[in-house]
Amino acid sequence: MLIKSIALCSLLLALALPALAEVGWWRSAQFYQIYPRSFKDSDGDGIGDLNGITQQLEYLKEIGITATWLSPIFTSPMADFGYDVADFYNIDPLFGTMQDFDKLLARAKQLDIKIILDFVPNHSSDECDWFKRSAAGEPEYKDFYVWHTGKVVNGIRQPPNNWISVFRGSMWTWHEGRQAYYLHQFLAKQPDLNYRNPKVIEAMKDVLRFWLRKGVYGFRIDAVPHVFEIAADKNGNWPDEPRNEAVSDPEDYTYLNHIYTTHQPETIDLVYQFREVMEDLDRELGGDDRVLLTEAYAPLNVLMQYYGNGTHNGSQIPFNFELLGNVNRESNAYQYAELLHNWLDNMPAGQVANWVLGNHDSSRIGSRLGADRIDATNMLLLTLPGISVNYQGEEIGMTDVWISWKDTVDPQACQSNEQEFERLTRDPVRTPFQWSDEAQAGFSNGASTWLPLASDYKLVNVKRERGIPLSHLNIYKQLRALRDEPSMQHGDVTISAIGPNVLAFKRSLSGHNSFITVWNINDNVEAVNLDSVFTSLSSQLKYVVVNDKSVRRKNDLTYANSLLLMPKEAVVLSTL
Ligand code: NOJ
Ligand code: MG
Repeated sequence: MLIKSIALCSLLLALALPALAEVGWWRSAQFYQIYPRSFKDSDGDGIGDLNGITQQLEYLKEIGITATWLSPIFTSPMADFGYDVADFYNIDPLFGTMQDFDKLLARAKQLDIKIILDFVPNHSSDECDWFKRSAAGEPEYKDFYVWHTGKVVNGIRQPPNNWISVFRGSMWTWHEGRQAYYLHQFLAKQPDLNYRNPKVIEAMKDVLRFWLRKGVYGFRIDAVPHVFEIAADKNGNWPDEPRNEAVSDPEDYTYLNHIYTTHQPETIDLVYQFREVMEDLDRELGGDDRVLLTEAYAPLNVLMQYYGNGTHNGSQIPFNFELLGNVNRESNAYQYAELLHNWLDNMPAGQVANWVLGNHDSSRIGSRLGADRIDATNMLLLTLPGISVNYQGEEIGMTDVWISWKDTVDPQACQSNEQEFERLTRDPVRTPFQWSDEAQAGFSNGASTWLPLASDYKLVNVKRERGIPLSHLNIYKQLRALRDEPSMQHGDVTISAIGPNVLAFKRSLSGHNSFITVWNINDNVEAVNLDSVFTSLSSQLKYVVVNDKSVRRKNDLTYANSLLLMPKEAVVLSTL
């Protein structure tokens, strides 16, 4: 009997093992986005660089980061601060050299932090050799970009259609040399590559292979919905896009509905092809899985296809922008609960959720939702099931920095005007990282920095926050430590709005303690009965993480059926 049950146990174990082996490192990882210009400047020119990142990798270790994705570091005239790549195979001298990058990789390996690069497939810089050759009509490169001679109306030459670029104005720019218009979904200095040309796809796959062989563990893919435009008709023309009647400014991107220039079905297949490259390289190089993080602002049903379709694998991490795009200061607990469910309930079986609350294109959490909600949103990010993605500085509670029109450098804002730039500018979220209360916030020892420092840097910085028990940074670290608990790693989640003001969710795994995250979103004192929404709680619960609004402390006990919450209090409780 005993022998039989041992045999049964080992059979069960054996059955369980392959499942465990499928648990990739990324499935409950903490990703951290570094914006290299603003992370750490090692040479005093006021712009962050690779050696700066290498110096500070230990900080990422301190806060428990698994992998970091770097916004573009490649050779670039910096018209869009690196999202205009002139050489996909080289490092821009502003950031350092290939040797510096190798050193960064080596140090990251020692610290067991994975490096992920930004991959910008949609476009290159107009200073890229490929574009110059294409413009010159060289046979190999002639069709690397999207060209059209335009149309002539009343004797005047005009672009081929009405398409408008994301950064305002026509999506077409005339090229004197080639005597044709070229397409650019973003700046004129960012010509779109022609994905209807198989050679382009192969060239871009080679770029992926090159960096994977150097030792990076994957890519964040930029602007995925824009990669394909609709195929030209038999006369080589593309249709106009329909009007969005709600917008009256004909230069503004939102003036049209982008049915022919975004979310074309071929894009999904391209992501599957990129994933195949990753899997080929997994086989070639061995070691841990390589991952794809995809940046697509798209409807949920499209996003879910990025994961894969049953026969093809796709991106392991299609960024989940549900929260980022849809919550504001007025959002209530029902809305939060619905947004969390939107992702979890629509995700294909076997996939993992990811939670993104900030990036270099979006207003910071403290400015968007209020500084008194920073810890709560970090709690969501780190206690929901799956992957957390954190933009640099959110863990210390950096907020947007107001920058005048005169000092604005972001092309998205500079293409507009003094009246509108504040709505468009991304400079406020890209200011130098705040390391300490020393000169230039410890970011640089130069005389100036490329964007102004936040005026609150003497209060909001890593050095100071390390010493304050309930600082944003220390709460972040406690949350990170808690993620090692089995229920956090592998447990289920049950989400509940308890009235409009309180969001709560429970993480549980049979045989282990459950954890309940509870957030009082607004300014009333709230008394809640957790037994009314969650089953199997112990009658008393223990506080394991509190924020600075709490009157209770870590390790205090509370009754599950009468939890009292202070205004904006956010806590994690554990069963006993
Ligand atoms: C998305 C990037 O995040 C943004 O910063 C950039 O301007 C555009 N793509 C164009 O590459
Ligand atoms: Mg495109």
